[in-house]
Amino acid sequence: MAKPRHDHSHRMADPPDQHHVRGHFATRVGFILAAVGSAVGLGNIWKFPYVMGENGGAAFLLVYLGCILLVGLPVLLAEFVIGRAGETSAVGSYRKLARGPWWLNGLLGVAAGFFILSFYSAVAGWVLRYFVNGTVSGFAAYAGDASAERFVGLISSAGEPIVYQFLVMAMTAGILFFGIEKGIERAARFLMPLLFLILLLLLVRSLTLPGAMEGLAFMFQPDFGKLSWKSVLEALGHSFFTLSIGMGVMITYASYVDRDVHLGKTAGTVATLDTGIALLAGMVIFPAVFAFGMEPGTGPALMFITLPQVFAQMPLGHVVGAAFFFLVFIAALTSTISILEPVVTWLVDDMDLTRWVASAVAGGLIFVVGIPATLSVSEGGLLHGFTLPFLGGPVTIFDFLDNVSSKFMLPIGGLVACLFIVFAWGRKNAMAEVTGTDGDNASPFAKLWFWTVATVAPAGIIVILVAAVIELASK
Ligand code: PHE
Repeated sequence: MAKPRHDHSHRMADPPDQHHVRGHFATRVGFILAAVGSAVGLGNIWKFPYVMGENGGAAFLLVYLGCILLVGLPVLLAEFVIGRAGETSAVGSYRKLARGPWWLNGLLGVAAGFFILSFYSAVAGWVLRYFVNGTVSGFAAYAGDASAERFVGLISSAGEPIVYQFLVMAMTAGILFFGIEKGIERAARFLMPLLFLILLLLLVRSLTLPGAMEGLAFMFQPDFGKLSWKSVLEALGHSFFTLSIGMGVMITYASYVDRDVHLGKTAGTVATLDTGIALLAGMVIFPAVFAFGMEPGTGPALMFITLPQVFAQMPLGHVVGAAFFFLVFIAALTSTISILEPVVTWLVDDMDLTRWVASAVAGGLIFVVGIPATLSVSEGGLLHGFTLPFLGGPVTIFDFLDNVSSKFMLPIGGLVACLFIVFAWGRKNAMAEVTGTDGDNASPFAKLWFWTVATVAPAGIIVILVAAVIELASK
């Protein structure tokens, strides 16, 4: 329960202790797992491994690690610092720490949460449907061409995907209803170790298949010839989405964290685990795909069409397939709760709603916005013909929400966070929050961080934004 925090009649005499009133992460591990749970999501499990394979394997990995270190990690730490110093919603934190319209960036994050969750919950719903269906009846019916037909059939129908999307949103809002410690922290402490365990078991299964090495070669063989400018942009853009930065998720989570937590180390841990789990996920998927002579395929098709075909033929495929979709579902759910929390925190801290009303209102509204997104995704979908104007030509509602949020809203959100630290809040305050000392006595690490936030990170983000505009304008 959200404790009787909002029951003012009984709490009037309590000291105005922020943490008591707002709830907080009870343990350091809980905070780390919640942040890792947010970062590890659909982006890691099917997007990253495929992009890596297509863009030169280990060669791409090097570029990607550079982007994470020089852009992702500094921005992640920037959000952590803003959140813990502000101790309130992203909107409120910007407002509290400096004058000026910076708080609008918090509001942009709330809007990005709406956009992202409305299509992310649709995909998470498909994953849940594959888990439930696979557990009940296995994957035998997905052999060969039947797999594609079944997937298209599912996403074109108007009923089933929406029911599953509703379940995803209900679970997400249900967890948030219990608050930080009893909701988010408890879910992450249970789900993240489970995710890791399933991942390791699947890894053993996949790597012991005959022909597994070919899959590893696809992922890791360094081929610098395949690295292009596009690969670099891809790596930059993905480093943003995958670390859940640019929309205030990490500001919000950090606003619930205690002063004795070392934010720099935590940011490093989150980035390391996020990358590690993405690599392990690829090492589960590609050996299996290659062992059965399948094509590594693209994004959604890989997870929803190719893999079920693999499970249809694999010994123990029923169990392995169900476990795989359960794993992906856990990854997605710990991300959906993190995308909804900034919205809920904003409604609670700034709009004075109680947590349960905020969770229900935010979850319900996003579910409603998500319905048209779901109905627009497939060619057979009811709303596929309805398009929205966008630079470079009209797109479906689903693609509109996806493109606007990940190509523009997240990078802008991250850029403004950097500018805010450098120009509004200031070096001294930021350093004090990172290391507990003022700028002059800060550790070399903190100095390096500030320097990156002031130079390389914003420059990298501007490159992403310019490239996105050029890409759209040239369509
Ligand atoms: N990081 C998540 C993933 O990789 C997605 C996400 C984006 C979550 C933005 C929160 C905020 O799937």
